[in-house]
Amino acid sequence: MSGPDLRRAAASRALTLVEPGMRLGIGTGSTAAAFIALLGERVRAGLDVVGVPTSEATRIACEREGIRLATLDELPELDLTIDGADEVDGSLRLIKGGGAALLREKIVAMASRRMVVIADAAKRVETLGAFPLPVEVNLFGLRATTLAVEAAVARAGCAGEVVLRRDASGEALRTDGGHAILDLRLGRIPDPEGLSARLWAVPGVVEHGLFLGIASAAILAEASGAEAVVSVLGDL
Ligand code: A5P
Repeated sequence: MSGPDLRRAAASRALTLVEPGMRLGIGTGSTAAAFIALLGERVRAGLDVVGVPTSEATRIACEREGIRLATLDELPELDLTIDGADEVDGSLRLIKGGGAALLREKIVAMASRRMVVIADAAKRVETLGAFPLPVEVNLFGLRATTLAVEAAVARAGCAGEVVLRRDASGEALRTDGGHAILDLRLGRIPDPEGLSARLWAVPGVVEHGLFLGIASAAILAEASGAEAVVSVLGDL
């Protein structure tokens, strides 16, 4: 049972939530890509839905699959968002943004009546923070913002490095919104709500990858022998 099989199993369960006429938020990353592939099959078989993509990469993938798209300005209220996550805790708090799409992902998720996470069960953690927390920041004053983020991290009772994410050519990575990403390598985040509030208080912070009180359920897939077993955290 491989990672792609588990991602496909979680995506397949999520597809059962999709009903004709729905306005869907469509996530970013490899698990969301598995969902897009399955949704594309259903669309080509006649399912009528419209999607709002959470990144340029997702927009391109959806267009390839023939999934009808709209912008969030055209459809500011959505029925359901399906997206991956980097970590999920028992209270459905998430770390997202490993793929640098956290800003659009959070805007789209919060415009949705429901957000359902799809993930490999290995993403389920007791305490968030082993995965570096992405923070999207404005390029203006990047050094000052980095120092302010470091201070916010310390005041929130966390410790660790704050690292500017770079692309393959070594340049500061740019998000779809033209911002940079700071990865907070904290190991553990004992008080996600406290850290969230302190990060939001830094003027150069555009958004952070803590999704708190946003997801209503998580569909988690794990291997059991040769089978993929899917469990649900929260209410679908
Ligand atoms: C994109 O910015 C992220 O939030 C992804 O949703 C997250 O990184 C999960 O990606 P995978 O499904 O590829 O693990």
